[in-house]
Amino acid sequence: MKTNSIGLNAEKSQELSTDLNSLLANFQTYYQNLRGIHWNIKGKRFFELHPKFEELYNDANIKVDEIAERILTLGGVPQHTFKDYSDNSQVPVGKNITKDDEAIRLIVDSLSVLLQIERGILEASDEASDEGTNSMMSDFITEQEKTVWMMKAWLAEEI
Ligand SMILES: [Fe+2]
Repeated sequence: MKTNSIGLNAEKSQELSTDLNSLLANFQTYYQNLRGIHWNIKGKRFFELHPKFEELYNDANIKVDEIAERILTLGGVPQHTFKDYSDNSQVPVGKNITKDDEAIRLIVDSLSVLLQIERGILEASDEASDEGTNSMMSDFITEQEKTVWMMKAWLAEEI
């Protein structure tokens, strides 16, 4: 087994960095969804939702950087162009969303896709004994599950 400088299987590290690049593209779509609803939200809940969406995109922005730097740590190259992101993302794209219910629904639908990808990476990183990626996914999943619960509570829907 060929190991790299951080003691991980070189081939598995490459595979994980590819998976993380997919997560990165999807995260950037989620981030841009949040910018869109932060800007375009209208109605009586504007003053509550406008800053809430800002809080979420600031958090997403930090996570995007963590994902990209993990890819580099594993020896990969993070995707960084809008074209790469739109070509490699499955997160639904929200456009001109002004209604609060639709904005919250977009967050839930985006996070559902991210969670699915992260669970895949959680499993693959466990198999590769890649603790760094594994604990990152574990933290993301815990936080995002809680956000989904809160958004579903806001929608008055069951999780
Ligand atoms: Fe703003």
